[in-house]
Amino acid sequence: MLSVKDAQNFVDYPNYWPQPYIDLSQLKQQEIELGRNLFYDPILSEDSSISCSSCHLQATGFTHIDHNVSHGIYGRKGTRNAPSLQNLAWNKTFHWDGGVTRLSGQAVNPITHPAEMNFTMKGVLKRLNRSEKYKGLLKDFSKEKNYTSSLLLHSLAQFTASLVSCQSKYDEMKAGKIIFTEQEEKGYQLFKQNCSACHTEPLFMRNEYASNGLPIDSTLKDIGRFSITHKNNDSLTFKIPSLRNCEVTFPYMHDGRFKKLKEVINHYTNESLVHSNYLDKRLKRSIKLSEMDKKDLLSFLLTLTDRKFLTNKQYSFPK
Ligand code: HEC
Ligand code: HEC
Repeated sequence: MLSVKDAQNFVDYPNYWPQPYIDLSQLKQQEIELGRNLFYDPILSEDSSISCSSCHLQATGFTHIDHNVSHGIYGRKGTRNAPSLQNLAWNKTFHWDGGVTRLSGQAVNPITHPAEMNFTMKGVLKRLNRSEKYKGLLKDFSKEKNYTSSLLLHSLAQFTASLVSCQSKYDEMKAGKIIFTEQEEKGYQLFKQNCSACHTEPLFMRNEYASNGLPIDSTLKDIGRFSITHKNNDSLTFKIPSLRNCEVTFPYMHDGRFKKLKEVINHYTNESLVHSNYLDKRLKRSIKLSEMDKKDLLSFLLTLTDRKFLTNKQYSFPK
């Protein structure tokens, strides 16, 4: 088992990063371990077929890749693409529309969502409290006598908050351990000119909502942040997602409409983008990139892949 000392190294991050909203030095290894067991266990779904990891796979940055929108219990389709789970401690809000404001309560949503796990908190707790395996885990990892909602949600949040990606090629370059190739460096400059106003370093996200000009999907009719605030300015705006590990987190956007990063780059460089309704002002100036520029930009985006994160055994299926 991991010692608490390992745990502290485990949630380390570069010292020039901003302060996270969740104090990672307070995470407890025992609770992370309990959360990890729960995250990988289909016991949380009504028919014991779906675990958190069914939609959030480590190898793809804890997102799913086989569908545009998520698929849950009984083959039911959700309405949104599962986001990657990484560096969540730096997120002020959660979900594409910011409808969830605390990580520690977030897991109620998938557990009770009819198209995800379709279960009740009461049902889960009853099962956990009867399970020999979970009785044992409780003894090993907690001082509590029984599973309660707060223990369940808190442990899951401890595990997901511990998912820190900070060891990509980009991070090594920042730390002065390596230098970029000429192509990556050119791509980095193009990124800074055109993308980083929203996908801001070093996390490559912002705690803001914006419209990047995607036309509304006529079937899903997802109006984004507007559904939470009912403010006109929030129409068709979505959380600005992190681009870390974007090489593997396809499909892209809240509805998974793009399968390749090339398609994403073509979206941003499409001449008619500037005429989109609700478009964020940061994209009002059209982005002109040659075919060569596009390749350079792509090669920079690939430097955000963090193989150590994607294969870190401390995040994978518990033994
Ligand atoms: C059926 C697929 C599915 C399952 C199962 C599932 N999720 Fe998700 N998850 C999603 C989708 C889709 C979203 C985005 C929801 C939205 O934006 O409305 C999401 C969002 C999240 C977020 C917010 C991430 C962010 O950046 O905003 C967290 C955290 C999360 N899920 C954790 C979990 C945990 C923990 C479990 C298990 C208890 C779980 N998920 C089970 C599909 C799933
Ligand atoms: C005005 C702010 C803004 C700018 C500038 C911007 N983006 Fe985005 N980006 C967003 C938003 C918002 C989303 C999510 C949109 C959605 O799902 O509806 C997004 C999504 C993405 C995604 C999909 C991520 C995922 O996990 O699904 C990629 C990749 C991406 N942007 C790359 C870029 C690149 C490359 C540039 C520069 C050419 C760029 N963005 C410029 C706001 C912006």
